[in-house]
Amino acid sequence: MEIEKVGVAGCGLMGSGIVEVSAKAGCDVVVREIDEDALAAGRARVSKSLDRAVAKGKLDAAARDEALARITFTTSLDALADRDMVIEAIVESLDAKNELFGHLDGVCPDETIFASNTSSLTVTDMAAATSRPDRFVGLHFFNPVPVMKLVEVVRTIVTSRETFEAASAFARRVGKVPITARDNSGFVVNLLLVPYLLDAIRQLERGVASVEDIDRAMTLGCGYPMGPLTLGDFVGLDTLLHVADIMYGEYREERYAAPPLLKRLVAMGRYGRKTGAGFYDWTPTGPVPLEV
Ligand code: CAA
Ligand code: NAD
Repeated sequence: MEIEKVGVAGCGLMGSGIVEVSAKAGCDVVVREIDEDALAAGRARVSKSLDRAVAKGKLDAAARDEALARITFTTSLDALADRDMVIEAIVESLDAKNELFGHLDGVCPDETIFASNTSSLTVTDMAAATSRPDRFVGLHFFNPVPVMKLVEVVRTIVTSRETFEAASAFARRVGKVPITARDNSGFVVNLLLVPYLLDAIRQLERGVASVEDIDRAMTLGCGYPMGPLTLGDFVGLDTLLHVADIMYGEYREERYAAPPLLKRLVAMGRYGRKTGAGFYDWTPTGPVPLEV
């Protein structure tokens, strides 16, 4: 089965990137957000990223316009009913995702493949709540989606071969390199990455070094493209907290436990770059390390 008509639920950090790469690859895309404000913000994110690609000479203006013309922005969930595949990229909450898939299960035909971009939930917990667990797969993209080449394609014990192959072919079509991961919380990357990000926050809590120096240590000492606290701000500290709580709930291992400082920052609305502040101030004068 070839995926031509793509639905995306959520046009935040990840959804907007998935919309962009799908449209650039020639797919017809419908993206759904919860309200007009969130939809406008999502549309602006997609446009800005395409404009940036044009400014950098990676895309010509005509290709940008064609890509934008392939995208329908909507607040209607039922507008996803005629899609070959719906990729979910909403908040990292099993209840929210199950509510979304529960509705889609009622309006999409049997052939529609459901995919989740979850970072840490098990795909099985979503698939089992629908009438199509064999046509349910994990498609885990990385942030920023237009740049990062990896997609983890996650199969549960009942994901059909056709579904898995269609999802893997779609990942390749949008320019990504798929790897196969088993359906364990955190798949491959987040099993390694999340404890590292949480440990960096624990170092900060213990006063080992400043925000800037912890990041400098890992960029200059290990050649990472960005330090762990900057990366936390990029991922979104709200998302990181959800992910830590889910992985801790699954494994009961201390390395997944959310450090208190992470909870405090999220409680104060300091989610990172998307809200303008996290470990750093990301307003146009930033990034400037903040007091924590
Ligand atoms: N959208 C589109 N393109 C972007 C972009 C964005 N948001 N951010 C950067 N780019 C592009 C730039 O246009 C540039 O392209 P060219 O080289 O062709 O000009 C390229 O990426 C490099 O950008 P910059 O030179 O501006 O900046 P940089 O060298 O610091 O690279 C980065 C930016 C690619 C984000 C790099 O810092 C990086 O790789 N960071 C680590 C990202 C990472 O680890 N992501 C995984 C997060 S974890 C996750 O996603 C899983 C989860 O479930 C939480
Ligand atoms: P985000 O907060 O930037 O965006 C989530 C968007 O979903 C918001 O715009 C919100 O309005 C919208 N939304 C909420 N409920 C919705 C619904 N029922 N229908 C449609 N839209 C809805 O979050 P994000 O960083 O894009 O993360 C989305 C998903 O991708 C999460 O499951 C997250 O774990 C996963 N993920 C995140 C990253 C990352 O680095 N941030 C990387 C890979 C995977």
